[in-house]
Amino acid sequence: MRIDVVTIFRDYLTPLDLSLVGKARKAGLLDLRVHDLRDWTSDRHRTVDDTPFGGGAGMVMRPDVWGLALDELLDDDAHLLVPTPSGEPFTQRTAEALAGEQHLVLACGRYEGIDARVAEHYRSRVRVTEYSIGDYVLNGGEVAALVVVEAVARLLPGVVGNPESLVEESHGAAGLLEYPVYTKPPEWAGLEVPDVLLSGHHARVARWRRDEALARTSQRRPDLVAALDVAELDKHDLAT
Ligand code: ADE
Repeated sequence: MRIDVVTIFRDYLTPLDLSLVGKARKAGLLDLRVHDLRDWTSDRHRTVDDTPFGGGAGMVMRPDVWGLALDELLDDDAHLLVPTPSGEPFTQRTAEALAGEQHLVLACGRYEGIDARVAEHYRSRVRVTEYSIGDYVLNGGEVAALVVVEAVARLLPGVVGNPESLVEESHGAAGLLEYPVYTKPPEWAGLEVPDVLLSGHHARVARWRRDEALARTSQRRPDLVAALDVAELDKHDLAT
C-alpha cells in the first residue's frame, strides 16, 4: 500500500518511523511518504493560508496551494482523506475498508481548515472522504492522520506478527470491547487472577471472556450493545 501525507508540520508524523509501522515501512509492506505543503508554494513567505471570506476568526488554507500538491500526488486509484472534526466518524470498519485500498492521500489541514472547494473539486476525479476521529477538536489534521495510518497499517498482511491478535480485540467482528487480560504473577498487590483463567479449561475460559466482554461493553459503551449484530456474536462464539 502507498500512503502520502501532506502537512505543514512534517515532524508531527515522525512517530511513523517507529514500532510496527516503522518496521512495515522498512520491510516494504507500506510505502509511506510525508510531504511539506509549503514545497508547493512559490512566494517568498511560502504562504499556505489567508483570511476567510465572509469574515470571522482565524485563517483558511488556500485551495490553489493544495491544488498543486494534490494534482501531483493523486492518481486514478487514490482515495483522498481529509481529517476534520466535521467529518464522518472514523471507525474500525473504516480502517478495515481502507486497508484494502491501493493508495491513500491524507491532507492535513491547520487553522480553520482547508477551503471547501478542494474536497468538492477532487470529488469529480477520485474518492474523497472527510473523517473525524472523535467528538473533540484538535489543532490540525496531523494527529488524526497518525491515528488513521496506524489503524490501517496494522491491518495490512504481515504487519502484526500474530494475526490471531487482531481477531479478539476491541471493536472486532463481534462488535464488543475486549475482555480484561492478565499475566504473571498470579497474585499482585493483593489481587488475584480469576481462577477460570488458570483452569486450562478452554471452553470455560472462552465463556468467561465473552461474558466479561459483554458486561464491559454494556457498562462503558451501551451504544455498542444497541448496535450488536447477533449473528456475528454467535459466529464469534463458535470460533472461541
Ligand atoms: N482535526 C481537528 N480535529 C479533528 C478531529 N477530531 N478528527 C479529525 N481531524 C481533526
